[in-house]
Amino acid sequence: MTNNAWNKRDWYNHPNLIYPDYKSTVFRNPKNSLIKLENLPEIPSPSFEKTSMRSIDSDLTLNAKKNYDPIGERIIVLGKVKDEFGRPVPDCLIEIWQANSAGRYVHREEIHDAPLDPNFLGAGMTLTDKNGDYKFTTIKPGSYPWDNHHNAWRPAHIHFSIFGRAFVDRLVTQMYFEGDPLFKYDPIFNSIPDKKAKDRLIAKFSIDQTIPEFAHAYIFNIVLRGREATPMEA
Ligand SMILES: [Fe+2]
Repeated sequence: MTNNAWNKRDWYNHPNLIYPDYKSTVFRNPKNSLIKLENLPEIPSPSFEKTSMRSIDSDLTLNAKKNYDPIGERIIVLGKVKDEFGRPVPDCLIEIWQANSAGRYVHREEIHDAPLDPNFLGAGMTLTDKNGDYKFTTIKPGSYPWDNHHNAWRPAHIHFSIFGRAFVDRLVTQMYFEGDPLFKYDPIFNSIPDKKAKDRLIAKFSIDQTIPEFAHAYIFNIVLRGREATPMEA
């Protein structure tokens, strides 16, 4: 992108590319002007068929279950995907990944000294329905330490990747849980300048969507572009 195009990024809504408190951003983000890729908005995203998705793919308490239910607090995460005009986006692929209830990922480079759960993989996917709605069943992730600074702990979060109708509509972000005491210490969360934009990443507890005797529910709505866009990672 030229500087001109680059300046169109809403710097108030989305995180700074280089945010020194989040140390690795200093090393991995570009310091030179970017090169514009012509016609990128014309490239449609892959289309995904409902037939290629199993209902179990959106249930992380079942999709890796071997013998027992995974350990931790079962939750429902649901919401609506909308475009910049507030219209629902159907058939949108949503993929999530997360740590288990002890704050540990299933990943070969994971070094956090916390137990793995053999019945929990921490990855799932689904498609939005004709109203743009999606729903996951999962386990509330634990906080985990990272080596960004002394005594650094990530607030509990779930990573989201969302494909809209075009490649430029792909959003990668993190969903948080309201009331987390770690927000004020987390440079990833705080790299988003605007408080309202930060709030759009925080899922809200819903007693109406909570399923009796089964699971708490959290609502996380996603806006792909525009003034109310959900903050996305660079
Ligand atoms: Fe994470």
